[in-house]
This record gives sequence, structure tokens and C-alpha cells, in this order.
Amino acid sequence: MLELRRVVRRYGEKVALRGVSLRVRRGESLSLIGPNGSGKTTLLRVAALLDRPDEGEVRYRGDPRGVTMVFQQPVFFDTTVFKNVAYGLRIRGRPEAEIGERVRRVLSLVGMEGKEGRRVRELSGGERQRVALARALVLEPELLLLDEPTSSLDPPNTWLVEEIIREAERERTVVLSTNHPFQAARLSRRVACLFGGRLIAQGSPREIVERPREERLRRFLRGERW
Ligand SMILES: Nc1ncnc2c1ncn2[C@@H]1O[C@H](COP(=O)(O)OP(=O)(O)OP(=O)(O)O)[C@@H](O)[C@H]1O
Ligand SMILES: [Mg+2]
Repeated sequence: MLELRRVVRRYGEKVALRGVSLRVRRGESLSLIGPNGSGKTTLLRVAALLDRPDEGEVRYRGDPRGVTMVFQQPVFFDTTVFKNVAYGLRIRGRPEAEIGERVRRVLSLVGMEGKEGRRVRELSGGERQRVALARALVLEPELLLLDEPTSSLDPPNTWLVEEIIREAERERTVVLSTNHPFQAARLSRRVACLFGGRLIAQGSPREIVERPREERLRRFLRGERW
């Protein structure tokens, strides 16, 4: 469904991705792990077709409108939860009755029922993160990219969102990044590890998280400097 070939992405002098090749099949679930600054967000933005690579190729076999990314630091319109979540359906021209129903359903899924009328800027960080997830899910994307989807969540909401992601994985292709290697193992069939803009390992959770062969990866997982 998605193929990256030797993708290089630079920010000025800084090289954030140094020749990343990666294939994601339809219906697959993939987690990206790696240190802060290793290129996870950059890779997701390229995979979401938001940024173009400076070198290499990105191929997506599908309708680009079916690709949705949930950002690490989501940005909202300064209005209510309802209007923010409804926006994507409105611009797609869905009828009001359908919008109302879908928005309420997805907000209840993420534990935000009854908060439709709240202004997003008055929400907590964790509530905002769940609204951002709802805003993506309501579009029923075929490829869903999630950048650290539980980073601001408390433990119960982390479990709730993991459950939602597992559910989403049944019907769509999901690629996420996380700073919690065991979360990657819980959520994905395949885990890929970035170090300094390179994919240094990929495989099953067992191969990457439980019994990593790469020394750098072992040190990183133990919380040591690699
Ligand atoms: N807009 C930008 N301008 C300049 N450099 C950037 C920009 N965005 C990212 N970088 C740099 O590119 C590298 C990769 O950043 P990226 O955000 O992809 O890492 P990450 O793996 O998502 O990290 P984290 O776990 O902290 O979210 C870093 O060195 C970062 O400083
Ligand atoms: Mg990031």
C-alpha cells in the first residue's frame, strides 16, 4: 500500500532521514520506535504525504484523501470540540444529520461524550489528544498514521486509546510511533527502529523488543546511552 524507497529528508543542514526504505502492506500494523530526534515524526509526515522527500521516492497505492495523520502536537480551530471533529466531514460535504451522528459516536468512543460543546483550548492535554484521535477516526481513513498517540494520557486513557487503535487495526492500515517499546509490541505485528535517521532493524515485537540483536537497540531499550 505504501512504499518508501531510499528516502532522504533534510531540514536545512540537518539530515533527518538518511535513506529509509520501508514497505507497508494493506491492513498491516507497524510501530516505529527510536530515540528522541531519530526521525519518527519526519518519517510519519513523509508517509502521510504531507512532506516530500528531498531524495528517494514515496509510493502510495490508494486515494491520498484516505490518508490521515494524528500529530504529536495537534493544532485545532479555536472553537468547540464538536466543530473541530465535524470539520473534515463538512468539507467532504456530508449531510448534517450524518455528521452529528458520526461525531457523537466517535467522541463517545474516545471517552469524550458530553464534551461536544466545550472549547478545545479549555481542555487538558490528554483530552485534546483524544479529540485529535476522534477527528482522524471520524474520517474512517484507509491509512492512519499516529504520532505518539498516548504521550499525554494517564494510564486508563492509555488503555482506552490502545483498545481503540487495536480496533482500528482490524479495518485499516495503521502506522504509529511511540516512545514506549512495549506499547509498540502490544499494538503492532511489526516494529521498526530508527536511529539517527536510519532504519536499523525491523521485525516482530519478539525480534525487536524482546530479543533485540542490535547492541545500540539493546542499550536504548535498557535506558542506557547507546
Ligand atoms: N522543522 C524542523 N526544522 C529543523 N530541524 C528539524 C525540524 N523537525 C525536526 N528536525 C530535526 O530532525 C530530526 C528528527 O526529528 P523528528 O521530530 O523526526 O524526531 P522524532 O524521532 O520524532 O523525535 P521525538 O521522539 O522527540 O518526537 C531531529 O534532529 C530534529 O531536531
Ligand atoms: Mg516525534
